[in-house]
Amino acid sequence: MCGIVAAASSRNVVPLLLEGLRRLEYRGYDSCGIATVDEDGLKRARSTARVAQLAEEADKAGLNAVTGIAHTRWATHGAPEVCNAHPHFSRDTIGLVHNGIIENYEEIRERLKGQGYVFYSQTDTEVIAHLVHSNYHGDLLKAVQESILELRGSYAIAVICRDEPHHIVLARQGSPLVLGVGDGEMLAASDAMAVAGVTDRIVYLNEGDVCDITPDHYDVYERSGRVFVPAERAVRIVQAYSGAIDLGPYRHYMQKEIFEQPRAIGDTLEGVVGITPRLFGEGAEEIFKGVSRVLFLACGTSYYAASTAKYWIEAIAGIHCDVEIASEYRYRISVPDPDSLVVTISQSGETADTLAALKHARDELGMTRTLTICNVATSAMVRESKLAYITRAGVEIGVASTKAFTTQLASLYLLALTLAKTQGRLSAEKEAEELKNLRHLPAALTAVLALEPQVIAWAERFTLKSHALFLGRGVHFPIAQEGALKLKEISYIHAESYPAGELKHGPLALVDESMPVIAVAPNDRLVEKLKSNLQEVRARGGELYVFADADTNITTDDRTHVIRLPEHVGMLSPILHVIPLQLLSYHAAICRGTDVDKPRNLAKSVTVE
Ligand code: F6R
Repeated sequence: MCGIVAAASSRNVVPLLLEGLRRLEYRGYDSCGIATVDEDGLKRARSTARVAQLAEEADKAGLNAVTGIAHTRWATHGAPEVCNAHPHFSRDTIGLVHNGIIENYEEIRERLKGQGYVFYSQTDTEVIAHLVHSNYHGDLLKAVQESILELRGSYAIAVICRDEPHHIVLARQGSPLVLGVGDGEMLAASDAMAVAGVTDRIVYLNEGDVCDITPDHYDVYERSGRVFVPAERAVRIVQAYSGAIDLGPYRHYMQKEIFEQPRAIGDTLEGVVGITPRLFGEGAEEIFKGVSRVLFLACGTSYYAASTAKYWIEAIAGIHCDVEIASEYRYRISVPDPDSLVVTISQSGETADTLAALKHARDELGMTRTLTICNVATSAMVRESKLAYITRAGVEIGVASTKAFTTQLASLYLLALTLAKTQGRLSAEKEAEELKNLRHLPAALTAVLALEPQVIAWAERFTLKSHALFLGRGVHFPIAQEGALKLKEISYIHAESYPAGELKHGPLALVDESMPVIAVAPNDRLVEKLKSNLQEVRARGGELYVFADADTNITTDDRTHVIRLPEHVGMLSPILHVIPLQLLSYHAAICRGTDVDKPRNLAKSVTVE
């Protein structure tokens, strides 16, 4: 999703801005741009190619100044073309980059057109640039403050002005924006990762903040009705993530991240010596004790983590559990239960729909027991929740989520055990056994990763396929769903997932010799049922690819291919079974020559609705 970098310094900021953009590339983008300002005015370069190409364009355009803004754009309003790329200018006086979506941009545009402003793009962003210009009477800060009072929707903006070349005005509402406090220079970005190479001193701007930066100071103003009053925002030290950018021996970040999972799960569970509510933060015991229901809110892969956890929470803790797609929940009329524990799950902690669903549940429906499971400790969702559990996957750069998913699962299993304990449903013996099983996970994952060569052989057969069907049962049905999502998002093969028992209620009609059917077959109490479902596929000439636990007795024949997982780890089995599905998608995508880490049309962090 779109990324902002801005810098005010005493040295040339162009290399800083380009490096910041490079660090944000993982979020996904389809065009990029950079602008500088000095006594000679505004200059810019824009490109629909990669940041490396933009660097050449910036060089050609002679960009070299101490103040500048830059952007990676993920198209919402207007196609990914140079004319729509940011920064947008207004009458060569105002330059602006923007993340988010302005809902009332059409009415403002019509009014500004009436005042003689000419629009060169289809974006909502250009409207803000002209609006700021129309409000500019020699004071950029004031012009931005006045302008945002008119905006509806979400935005993070960075604005420069020809007549005030030594500072940048920033504002945010609904889209993230942080400051990086350097040595005699000030940076701003939509993600601390962008400034990690320069400083680890970070200031998080709050919703509604406006901020004025120069090389050696920042002034924050918070909104109070229609006026802005000075506010304090503390500097925090945030671990630099620079190391995450190195690929090491891997071809892609996705491959690296798949292989990091034993380490990531080990780190996520590190320090868990006993099951206690304290793992989830201060006051968790009180909050968990009165819980009558669990409500999960999430999107995409995180939603499938929630769907898996529903099986665990109900089976282990005996608590009723609902799972809602955040983008639907936030708009539907639902029946709230004030004693629900509302759990948001998110890799980034910034997903607009999940954040809005959390606020809807808490502020409009009065469910105040909130917990976020998240990979980014400083994210908006963590800050908005009473409790949190931080997965320690490390920065995930591949757009397709892998290590974030399995670390979410490990954390959710801990949540199920913790709720069980607070409800008196976890004996000391059971707790000890469960902890032992959790500690064994990194070794078990390593053994599953060793199956990669066998998966590669299968993946080659998918090169020319257009469709695939994923089957699973029980707690492994969400794993089949996640497998289908992974395959479609990075290989562009159309994939569907079904609980295997549903086959004969419709999808069996799709099965013929050209349809690969991938089955998740753990050795659990549903395995015999699953075997019957596989026979239904077999009898219709379907080709089966089965990931089976060692002792399931599912055997290979001419149209049934089996890869055996080394061991069955009971209820934790979904965490192992998703691994070969990640590997299958990754290698199928390689065979089809797609851009694995940056699949078309997708962004890493979906910060707009
Ligand atoms: C799929 C994927 C997405 C995200 C979804 C939610 O591989 O990565 O489906 O899971 O956009 O993102 P987070 O977890 O950051 O809220």
